[in-house]
Amino acid sequence: METFKAELARPTFVAVRRWLDAFHGRGDQPGLVLSGEPGRGKTHLLAAAAREITFRYGVGVRFVEFSHLIASIREGYDRHVGEARLLGPLVQVPCLAIDELGKGKGTDFETAILDEIVSRRYNAHAGPLLATTNFPLRTARARRDNDSLSTNALPTLAERLGDRVWSRLQDSCVFVEAVGDDFRVTRGRG
Ligand SMILES: Nc1ncnc2c1ncn2[C@@H]1O[C@H](COP(=O)(O)OP(=O)(O)OP(=O)(O)O)[C@@H](O)[C@H]1O
Ligand SMILES: [Mg+2]
Repeated sequence: METFKAELARPTFVAVRRWLDAFHGRGDQPGLVLSGEPGRGKTHLLAAAAREITFRYGVGVRFVEFSHLIASIREGYDRHVGEARLLGPLVQVPCLAIDELGKGKGTDFETAILDEIVSRRYNAHAGPLLATTNFPLRTARARRDNDSLSTNALPTLAERLGDRVWSRLQDSCVFVEAVGDDFRVTRGRG
């Protein structure tokens, strides 16, 4: 019970809860991007949010992991499946949840596919994009200056995704930094 109370007060949980409470599901519904280091509970919260969108709001959600998504699209192209069939469902679904956005090698193919999906959804007001990522929202220097956050050598999410995708996400999403300890390390400690 105490653990659950602590969870309810956790800043990342509160931010996602606030986003869900304001959910209206219309075309201008803001999306949600959870950024943070490994083990901060991002995938856990993304799945919980997708579940609430489905059951409480009755809005369809497609949940995908970024590198699987890229691999399946590449495989589809190799089999000469048409682009409309490959990308259509990702563009048309009312809510698209992408776990581990930007993961992979950062190839031109990955960037181009993400650009297609994000731009088309943005232009069509298709509905919110939800995502998690390990890529930080701020630079390592800015993070170092704020000593509550640790540093890492990753590029920022903006650098990773490129200007076109980043511009659209900034206009259409709420950004939340998943802070705190790594659950994988702390769980089991009293
Ligand atoms: N609030 C929580 N209380 C207890 N355990 C949690 C909580 N949130 C997540 N966990 C557990 O901690 C582990 C890490 O959570 P999760 O996979 O969501 O982290 P993540 O931020 O997505 O990590 P990564 O960046 O490595 O993908 C999982 O086993 C998950 O079940
Ligand atoms: Mg995760």
